[in-house]
Amino acid sequence: MNPEVKNCTPANLNTNASAGENLRSMVEPVVEQLQILAVSRGQALVQRNGKGKCLMCHSLSGGGIGFIPKDSSTPQERERARAILTPGLLRSLNEHLIEDKSMPPMSNDLSPQDREDIKAYIESFR
Ligand code: HEC
Repeated sequence: MNPEVKNCTPANLNTNASAGENLRSMVEPVVEQLQILAVSRGQALVQRNGKGKCLMCHSLSGGGIGFIPKDSSTPQERERARAILTPGLLRSLNEHLIEDKSMPPMSNDLSPQDREDIKAYIESFR
């Protein structure tokens, strides 16, 4: 085997600090950009095009299960949403939205990508 290929393992990248650093500096901005795009698609699904429908049942001013601020919410309301979004609630979001897809039938037309985008959007409040 070509020795260079053999040496190109994650462990070797870690010991070769500058190669690892170079790779990281190339990958990180791309990941960050993808994250920003996911959040803004999620925002559109939840706040604007109505496909997400989450606000129907989970808007902050709703009942006991409200945790999603509207685009028009005040900074105080956003602060409140942040306090409600505990790690436990985020785990539950993952479970109901991504894993068992048990959120109400009206969200069944959400694609797997839509679900990931909504999750990224809600996580971005933290
Ligand atoms: C028709 C009303 C309705 C809609 C629309 C809806 N939900 Fe829910 N959601 C509920 C109810 C009711 C519960 C409580 C279920 C329970 O307690 O077992 C819940 C629970 C949750 C939970 C868990 C909360 C907790 O305390 O564990 C999350 C997270 C969640 N919904 C996210 C969403 C997201 C994201 C959307 C949009 C894609 C959405 N829901 C759309 C009614 C709705």
